[in-house]
Amino acid sequence: MRVAVVQTNPVFANVKSNLEEVCGYISREHADVFVLPELFNTGYNFIDAEEVAAFAETADGPTYQKMFSLAKDRASYICYGFAEKADRLYNSAILVGPEGLVGLYRKVHLFSREKLFFAPGDLGFPVFDLPFGKVGMMICFDWIFPESARSLALGGADLILHPSNLVLPHCPDAMITRCLENRVFAATANRVGTESRGGIVLSFIGKSEIISPRGEILHRLGDSQPGIGVADIDISLARNKQVTEFNHVMDDRRTAQYRLT
Ligand code: ACM
Repeated sequence: MRVAVVQTNPVFANVKSNLEEVCGYISREHADVFVLPELFNTGYNFIDAEEVAAFAETADGPTYQKMFSLAKDRASYICYGFAEKADRLYNSAILVGPEGLVGLYRKVHLFSREKLFFAPGDLGFPVFDLPFGKVGMMICFDWIFPESARSLALGGADLILHPSNLVLPHCPDAMITRCLENRVFAATANRVGTESRGGIVLSFIGKSEIISPRGEILHRLGDSQPGIGVADIDISLARNKQVTEFNHVMDDRRTAQYRLT
C-alpha cells in the first residue's frame, strides 16, 4: 500500500485557502492513505477559547464534507486534524474514506496552551480496520508518552497516523524509537512556517516522515517547505513482532514487573 504525508504551511483562519492547499496535493498524487497535519484547516496558534469556538466544527461539518468528497473522488483514505465542536472543544483527528467516516480520535495529551482551549481526549486510542491493514491515530505531542503508540500497537495497529504541528525538535527522531519498540509503521504529517498571534510566536519544524517497523526513515521532508512525501509499504512487516529468534516485543513484556502509576 502507499501512504502519503502532506506537509502544509496554513494561513491562520483562512480555512478556504488551507483546504485548497491540501486538495491540490491530494488531487495530484496517488496514495491509499493521506495524512494531513493537526488543525490543518484553521492553523494552530489560537488566542483564547472563544476564538477556537468560532472556528471549531462538528465531526460532520464543512471540512468533513470536503474531505469526504475528496476521499470518494480519489478512492483514498484521508486522516486530518481539526478543532472539534462537541459537548466540549477537542483537538481531534478524523479518518474518512470513500465509504464515509471511519474513525474519530481526540488528542489525549494536550500541549502547552492547548490546555487553555481544549478538553483532553476521552475516546482512548481506537484502532480501525482498513482494506489493507489496521490503523490508529495519535496527535502531535502524544508522541512524548510512549503509552500512546503502545496502546495503538496493543490494539493491533499496523500503521500509526500522526497529524502534527510540532514545535519541539525531538519528535521526528523519537518516532523512530516508537516504531522500533512497537514494530509498527508511522506517518507523521507536520507543518512548516511561523504563527505570531497575541504576542506568542510559534515556529513549526516540518520534517514530516514515514517510518518503518525496523526504524528506517522511508521518507522525510525538509524543515521549511510545504510538500508531500510518499512511501510504498509492506504492512505485513508490522505483523512480525520478533526482534530476534528469542525476543518478541509484545510477548516478552513483563507486565507484573512494571510500575504503571
Ligand atoms: C503539539 O502537540 N502541537 C506540539
